[in-house]
Amino acid sequence: MKELSIGGVPVSELADKYKTPLYVYDQKMIEDRIEEYLEHFKADGLSTEILYASKAFTCIHMLKIIKKKGLSLDTVSGGEIYTALKAGIDPKKIYFHGNNKSPEEIKFAIDSGIGTFIIDNKEEAEDIKRYMAGRDDKLDVMIRINPGIDAHTHKYIITANVDSKFGISMDEKDIIAETVKGLSSLDNISFSGFHIHIGSQIFEKDAFTAAIEKLCGFMKEMETEYGISCRAIDLGGGFGARYTDEDRPVPVKEMMDSILESLLRERKRHGLSFDKVMIEPGRSIVAEAGTTLYTVGYIKKTPHKKYIFVDGGMTDNIRPALYEAKYDADVANRMDEPKTDLVTVAGKCCESGDILIDGIDLQTAERGDILAVYTTGAYGYSMSMRYNQNGRPAVVFVKDGKDTEAVKRETYESMLINET
Ligand SMILES: Cc1ncc(COP(=O)(O)O)c(C=O)c1O
Repeated sequence: MKELSIGGVPVSELADKYKTPLYVYDQKMIEDRIEEYLEHFKADGLSTEILYASKAFTCIHMLKIIKKKGLSLDTVSGGEIYTALKAGIDPKKIYFHGNNKSPEEIKFAIDSGIGTFIIDNKEEAEDIKRYMAGRDDKLDVMIRINPGIDAHTHKYIITANVDSKFGISMDEKDIIAETVKGLSSLDNISFSGFHIHIGSQIFEKDAFTAAIEKLCGFMKEMETEYGISCRAIDLGGGFGARYTDEDRPVPVKEMMDSILESLLRERKRHGLSFDKVMIEPGRSIVAEAGTTLYTVGYIKKTPHKKYIFVDGGMTDNIRPALYEAKYDADVANRMDEPKTDLVTVAGKCCESGDILIDGIDLQTAERGDILAVYTTGAYGYSMSMRYNQNGRPAVVFVKDGKDTEAVKRETYESMLINET
């Protein structure tokens, strides 16, 4: 029976050594993808910076890869900042996002010397001014604006989208101008520009082109109407990953070329002076490098379905239950057998919605086989939970035939560690 290997390690070895469910990351795939971004997100006359969106998947081992490759980091909580600092990321390379940063988080970030705050609303700007008043250190700030473009998977729509919980609507120019001017009234706060994020799992170059056109038009208006100019813009993340054959992500080079070309064109057209652009890929860096290994348990037939039950489920991957995300899989110890058995892969949680894959042709599985579900590297571990007191799985990185445990499996004891 032919067996799947990841990073040169047969999956049965990983399953024996670390047990299942298990998150396995092919480290080289992550490194290669980062290199691809670094190589292609470059343009003459424009400085570029790539921020890894740590919400997609964060742990110290991952962040050490980010550090080694010289990327900056997008964080959204005190906890993400703390993890980044523990991984040795330079605080100046950390950007702090979030629509409701707590007073403690704001203070912690400023005291830790975080480089840039992405401010989400006017009240937050006031809080930051209060914390920064009288301090010797300096802070860069950007303002998240809502461009009214909703890009999702295969389509994008231009909407007023005034009801988003994130950012200040582009239509509220007076409020944006007041916020920028208020922040700039302090010598130690420097406003560098605007941030947008138009969605996730985007497969359309045109969505970014439309966003850039709208953003540059807006910046021109802010310049002429309010005298506000920007040094930098941040276009957010959202680049797609391949989960199943239906997904066709735009190759990194093609997407970066298209973004940079639109930016340079729009900058020239409006006579804008910004000279720096950032992007924040998360999913596209880690999703395809991650595979979750499960052990097949009981197999159940109903009048219309055949279930194979696995030893994890919505606790380690909430995406199918949360937004009907689709996945591809293999019975990893039967790779050479035909995939002709139509099954539904269900988890072990006490919830009817705990279905990982609703209908997939797989090799005929038996109890004790290993099921590999692909492309689980983003928003899997980072969204994991302990429903039913199922401990979170371990996280292992593999590279060149060597495996490294990055996060240990939660045990019965470790799950009770905070109980008083
Ligand atoms: C502001 C911001 N930047 C970056 C990202 C990362 O997006 P993705 O993982 O789809 O690249 C997100 C995701 O929600 C986000 O909200």
